[in-house]
Amino acid sequence: MSIFSFFKKQATPADEPAQAQQQKKAASPSDVGKFYNQYNDKFLQVYGEVIQAYRTTDVSKLLDYEIASIGFQPGMRACDAGCGVCGPATYFSQKCGITVDAVTISEVQKKDAEKNISEKNLQQAVRVSLGDYHQLKSIYGAEQFDVVYFLESFGHSYNHTLAIESAWDALKPGGFLYIKDLFRKLAVLPEHQPKIDYEIGRINEAYRYNIAEMNVVLDALRKQGFVIMFMKTIDLKLEDFENLTISNDFQELTGIAKIEDWENYIFPVDFFEIKCYKPQHELQYGLSHYFLQNMYWMQVHKKQEEELDYGKL
Ligand SMILES: C[S@@+](CC[C@H](N)C(=O)[O-])C[C@H]1O[C@@H](n2cnc3c(N)ncnc32)[C@H](O)[C@@H]1O
Repeated sequence: MSIFSFFKKQATPADEPAQAQQQKKAASPSDVGKFYNQYNDKFLQVYGEVIQAYRTTDVSKLLDYEIASIGFQPGMRACDAGCGVCGPATYFSQKCGITVDAVTISEVQKKDAEKNISEKNLQQAVRVSLGDYHQLKSIYGAEQFDVVYFLESFGHSYNHTLAIESAWDALKPGGFLYIKDLFRKLAVLPEHQPKIDYEIGRINEAYRYNIAEMNVVLDALRKQGFVIMFMKTIDLKLEDFENLTISNDFQELTGIAKIEDWENYIFPVDFFEIKCYKPQHELQYGLSHYFLQNMYWMQVHKKQEEELDYGKL
């Protein structure tokens, strides 16, 4: 390739896929931290100690739903990536007998989380750190957790692939990753997509978010080596659903990303949950119902079939 064609082939901003452009503009972790420092009181005032927009009126129903989806077992060690003030972490620990290492990028949230943990007398079970969830291995070490979960926090990432890699590194083989978040809606009628994308831009800017593309995230998870156990819409019962009035109240209170024109407004995101499994490198511990994925993992790690202990599978 000549130097001229090389320069011609350089991507211009207009050529770049929407995702790449979004990532370029995405807020840094330190900007996200400043945002939560500034608005912490307002978030607590409107949301309480669970800072999730897609929720039930009785928030314990949402957290119970998440417990069932994640599949906590007593004694598990979990990492709450983007923990807020540890409302979910303390609830999960009390209800399921797990320990949680929780990380937030906001020092103001960290202080409130510490207060929350000690008021509930959970210092032995829930620990909060100030840090960046893109660097879980350097905070906690490699292969520490049975579960890493992101509850409406993954979409703050400036680089979703990096956040996935970070979760992978921190998980023990056989551990689970769970993500609950909002994803870009794909329009049924083509004329709706520009309106959707306009609203997505406003949310991203106002909330220091980087709303993810579902297919890009699924590809990144699979390329990392995760086994997708399920990806589905969050199935809250209609009578329990809070109807997003809390997030509207927040917009009213702060003026952040207020909806300009309700009549032409198209709700720009879908809420999904994704659960993944990190395959076992040590095949004698492999789970039988992930047989095909374990076989592939064996090829990735250049293992021989004779090494398989079928008795333990
Ligand atoms: C919408 S709140 C959700 C809080 C919590 N998951 C809950 O359900 O209450 C998003 C959280 O993600 C955290 N966060 C965003 N980016 C982060 C990063 N790079 N590292 C650590 N935490 C981050 C914020 O500090 C905030 O606590």
